[in-house]
Amino acid sequence: MQTDFLVIGSGIAGLTYALKIAEQFPDKKVVVMTKAAADETNTKYAQGGIAVVNDLENDSFEKHIDDTLIAGDGLCNKEVVEIVVKEGPERVRELIEWGARFDKEEDGDYKRGKEGGHSEFRILHHKDVTGKEMERALIDAVNNQKNIEFIKHCFVVDILTQHHFGYLVNKATPDVECYGVYVLNLETNKIEKILAKITLLATGGNGQVYRTTTNPAIATGDGVAMVYRAKGRIENMEFIQFHPTALYEPGVRGHAFLITEAVRGDGGILRNLDGEAFMEKYDERKDLAPRDIVARAIDSEMKRTGTEHVWLDCRHFTKEKFIEHFPNIYEKCLSIGIDITKSMIPVAPAAHYSCGGIKTDEWGRSSIRNLYACGECASTGLHGANRLASNSLLEAMVFAHRCFVDAAEKINSLSFSNNIPDWNARGTTEPKEMILITQSLKELQQVMSDYVGIVRNDVRLQRAMRRLDLLWEETEQLYESSSLSPQLLQLRNMITVGYLIVKGASFRKESRGLHFNTDYPNKSNLVQNIVL
Ligand code: FAD
Ligand code: SIN
Repeated sequence: MQTDFLVIGSGIAGLTYALKIAEQFPDKKVVVMTKAAADETNTKYAQGGIAVVNDLENDSFEKHIDDTLIAGDGLCNKEVVEIVVKEGPERVRELIEWGARFDKEEDGDYKRGKEGGHSEFRILHHKDVTGKEMERALIDAVNNQKNIEFIKHCFVVDILTQHHFGYLVNKATPDVECYGVYVLNLETNKIEKILAKITLLATGGNGQVYRTTTNPAIATGDGVAMVYRAKGRIENMEFIQFHPTALYEPGVRGHAFLITEAVRGDGGILRNLDGEAFMEKYDERKDLAPRDIVARAIDSEMKRTGTEHVWLDCRHFTKEKFIEHFPNIYEKCLSIGIDITKSMIPVAPAAHYSCGGIKTDEWGRSSIRNLYACGECASTGLHGANRLASNSLLEAMVFAHRCFVDAAEKINSLSFSNNIPDWNARGTTEPKEMILITQSLKELQQVMSDYVGIVRNDVRLQRAMRRLDLLWEETEQLYESSSLSPQLLQLRNMITVGYLIVKGASFRKESRGLHFNTDYPNKSNLVQNIVL
């Protein structure tokens, strides 16, 4: 297959870009590819909403810019922050035109929520299922666009570069180029070659690297791992954001249900097991301090009291008020026997968002030619050392637009490469034991959670690296000898991502934003991004 534009990922980033390209080039083909069902994305699970300045009487671009810079703890690229905040309203307007609905007051004005680190009420939302509504609107719009081919259940394995026709490519090679991808078609179990003039990676986050995460099973960091293998630049991977309040359900591993920060924005109070509202001990902004501070405070309270959760107290809400904004959370809690008007909700931090990723410039261009990246897999410079709540949906749309503008200018000067060979599967056999993969995955998640979590130190990081080395060696042996499965490919990608997180964390000899190392508890004067 060959296509002018190839889009990997069907979340907010990939679909926004695909729609714009398809509208601008009705005669060109756009292929959108996803490894799962169309809507199975981090986007679908977004709850709180999208941070955007659309009430200039009470809010301003300057305030949103300042809030983002403060959360980012000295590492945001100010120019990028200004771009995202100022271009955001126009992108949200387009999303509304594509059919996304946000909650309104009786007078027709938008309802605006508040979350940690925001100085104003500016979060547009659709109850507590904002992402589901956005994803619905985008998929409907894509389905109405005749020149978009939407291919589901196709797992992108690797991006094609000069390496695939025999050139030696390493980090020092100038002008590495992307010619398309190899994909594992999950229906035929065959690896296919797809040539593209321009490829966009919108592959989302990597929460599954940890034992408990708010991210669904698709969030395995595939795009970052592919770019690293192709010798592209990856940045700031140590900044993994732990959401302070995932629902604590004993025995539940993997995908944890989120209790949106908007609950605290509406007045929810964190309490420790003694019933004390502990956040005032940690920060004057209390429950609405930026996420890194709240997650660390909860971690510290859990360690102090020897428990696996704290409480989120919503008993002072009226049932009607809670259900109006948070119907999904109300139902979920009730389904496990918690009536939020009578009982507190058990919550604990869970891996939530990757602030680093594929390094891009202000047009979403990666360090590999004709390869763009946007959304959670990208590191644009917006988030710095800690993402401000509800800024990621906004960033995804602003950068999807910027990738579109740049790609549209370039497309007519590009051609396909005819030098790429078909995939060679000679010498591989069906893996005999799936347990080799599932057990290694458990080990990886255990190592990352125990040694590379909210609080780190040098000994833990060294231990983690030694264990990852072994897992890597064993997984490479499997990869070389087995026919490929999504489980094996994801494991391989997640080990790479784990390695990049540990490497970034080991290089950062300071504590800043989401990276807290007890051996270096202060910020260094050297303000730097770590590029691998
Ligand atoms: P995703 O939406 O995750 O899409 C990734 C796509 O890539 C998927 O289609 C996946 O199948 C595909 N893919 C990945 N690897 C491959 C591969 N190898 N081959 C083929 N396809 C592949 N942010 C906010 O701003 N506000 C919020 O309120 C908010 N709430 C959140 C709540 C939860 C529970 C979670 C998990 C996140 C939340 N976030 C929120 C973060 C935000 O939702 C995500 O950062 C954003 O949706 C990411 O969008 P994306 O398009 O980059 O990736
Ligand atoms: C939430 O709703 O608490 C998540 C918001 C975000 O991750 O930006």
